[in-house]
Parts: sequence; C-alpha cells; structure tokens
Amino acid sequence: MKYRSVAVDGPSGAGKSTISREVAGRLGFIYADTGALYRAVGLRFLETGSLGLGSLELSIRFVNGEQRVFDGGRDVTEEIRRHEVSKAASDCSALPEVRAFLLDRQRKLAEGYDVIMDGRDIGTVVLPEADLKIFLTASPEDRARRRFEQLERGYKIARSRGVEPDGGLCPPPPYGRILQDILSRDHNDTTREEAPLRPAPDAVFLDTTGNTFEQSAAIIEGLIRERLGL
Ligand code: DC
Repeated sequence: MKYRSVAVDGPSGAGKSTISREVAGRLGFIYADTGALYRAVGLRFLETGSLGLGSLELSIRFVNGEQRVFDGGRDVTEEIRRHEVSKAASDCSALPEVRAFLLDRQRKLAEGYDVIMDGRDIGTVVLPEADLKIFLTASPEDRARRRFEQLERGYKIARSRGVEPDGGLCPPPPYGRILQDILSRDHNDTTREEAPLRPAPDAVFLDTTGNTFEQSAAIIEGLIRERLGL
C-alpha cells in the first residue's frame, strides 16, 4: 500500500507543529515532528559535550498517535523542549554528519503511515516526492508575538499548578529578546550550507501573518483534502 505524505516546512514559530498536529488529527494522519530528532541530538550534546552519533540509539514511537522520542530506553520527549536545547539543536542541525544521520530515520517515518511531516527541509530533501508540500511562514514580529504568548500561557499554567516549567519557574523573556532569537535562528537556518531552509519549487507558499490558528488550520486542511482527494 502506498502511504500519503504532506511536507510542511518553514521558519521557527510559523505555527507548523500546532497546525500540523491538529490537521493530522482531523484527517487520521500521523504527525511527525522532525525537529524533535534534532533536539534529541542537541540534548545528547548538551549532556555529554560530544555528538556521539555512533552510540545514539534514537527511535520514534507513536503512542496513541502521539510521537515519543527515545534515546535507547530513555524517553526524552519532554526534556528536548527545554529552552537551552533549542539553541543546541540549531547548532547541531548545521553539521552535515548530523543531517546524514537523521535522513533515513525521517524517511522511515513516512513509510508506514499517512503522514504530515514538519521541519525545514522535508519538501526539498527528506520527502521530495511528497504528495503536497507547504511552506508556512509569517512575519518575524507575528511569530515572536505568538511565541511570547505561548510562553506566557505556559508560565501562568505552571504557576497556577505549582509546577516548574523549563527547569525553573521564570517568566518569559521580553518580546524584544524573543524577536532577536527568532531573527538569529532564521539567519542560522537559511544560511547554513547543508539543506538550508527554503521553499521547494513546487511548494504551496502560505503566509499566515494576521491569521488566527483556526483560519490557518482550515486553509491547510482544505489544501490537503483538495490535493489528495479526501
Ligand atoms: O522545529 P524545531 O524548533 O523543534 O527544530 C529544532 C532545530 O532543528 C531548528 O533549529 C532547526 C532544526 N531542524 C532542521 O534543521 N531540519 C529539520 N527538518 C527540522 C529541524
């Protein structure tokens, strides 16, 4: 049986993961978050000071349709979301050996499922034969604002529960710093030599600046239904 695949690429904070997860749920597809693999490599690097790709036993399992990431027997799904892991993942993702190491793992994810896969090079490198490619973006200011609101919501929820988010209960950084981080990650991701972030020539380009989450999700669901005849 041939499984269907949709590639969603774009810069940090464009809403790729929340929208892809939601739409995959509506369509009965698996949502595969490839940034999680880069994050797992980044976590290993932070903890051990070296990449150690030879001993890195990364695996992805889908539990009730939700992706979980394992390093050997250790479930690192939550830990890879820590703030410092984002920077380490971005640095490691520029290394050709890391990209080569993760390429087959990402392709395998699309072999056994109908999948919406998000990342930076899914339409250009990982799944060049995807049934539909979407390049999702928004202005840096919009992406920074959404990221700020998301962090603020997380902080308030954590405070009300007495839980410590992100290794310590700290308020989100100011909007200006988040915007600077976004611009610097954009620069890293688009200027690296290996598989830089750019739209595939046959991608549908979608700028979600000013959209609500629901508007963007509806547009993407519509695009997929139309292309795949669902
Ligand atoms: O989407 P994310 O923030 O979880 O991704 C973490 C880092 O991994 C990000 O800096 C870009 C990199 N990445 C990549 O280079 N290629 C992918 N397919 C996915 C993520």
